[in-house]
Amino acid sequence: MPESLKGVVLAGGTGSRLFPLTKVTNKHLLPVGRYPMIYHPLLRLKEAGVTQIAVVTSPEHMGDVVNLLGSGDELGLDLTYRVQDKPGGIAQALGLCENFAGGNLFVVVLGDNILENNLTDEVNAFLKQGRGARILLKEVDDPERYGVPRFEEGRIIEIIEKPASPPSTFAVTGIYFYDTQVFDFIRELSPSRRGEYEVSDLNSAYVRRSLLSHGILQGWWGDAGTLEGWHEANNLARDLVYMHLNPLGAQAE
Ligand code: DAU
Repeated sequence: MPESLKGVVLAGGTGSRLFPLTKVTNKHLLPVGRYPMIYHPLLRLKEAGVTQIAVVTSPEHMGDVVNLLGSGDELGLDLTYRVQDKPGGIAQALGLCENFAGGNLFVVVLGDNILENNLTDEVNAFLKQGRGARILLKEVDDPERYGVPRFEEGRIIEIIEKPASPPSTFAVTGIYFYDTQVFDFIRELSPSRRGEYEVSDLNSAYVRRSLLSHGILQGWWGDAGTLEGWHEANNLARDLVYMHLNPLGAQAE
């Protein structure tokens, strides 16, 4: 059994729902609490022992993202970068990481997801699972904003992206664990009606093969991808400090 996983943080997309805040900068560089948004997923991964991480972003913003993060050394990370030429969806962005994954299990965190807790228990649960996929759910008041699971006898039988009539009150959070079959499943996907390769379709491919497990995410969780969500995430993360970083973001002594 491998001792840890590789990680992927997705920071592409257009950020159009936050326009004009995102007119000249990438959404993931906007502040959330005391840090640039992308620090949050990166540092939660680091706390769980995941330090080899691929960051995917668009050609327009790769320069700024690299200016911020560099090699990752300052944050105690070993970063690899992949360019997503066009924002064709989360599954497409993930598909760019096949060589990086190199046959390892890995964890994906969406670059706009902000978490209260570290992911150590979840990483360990997936290492124990050893294959297939695992997603984390959170009960929410507005499931129609997210991917939503449909349950039958306690098992997920389908995941629907932003359903008008949500079949449950759970959101699929942007934290996903996969084995390398995921790249074969991505190749089999077709674009959705909005023209994107959807992560919900990808997860449904695992559901159909009975290879998807799920957990409930503990602690608060925010998706900072909308104006409302960004404000909410800023409130939640206002006093959040990553203990191993000094206020300027460099490694504490
Ligand atoms: O936050 C959880 C939700 O994230 C899930 O419940 C949904 O199932 C999932 O589709 C996603 O929904 P969003 O509407 O929040 O997705 P968004 O387009 O904001 O993309 C989320 C992140 O994924 C974004 O911060 C950057 C990355 N991304 C997105 C697209 C469309 C890319 O890297 N490339 C892309 O082409």
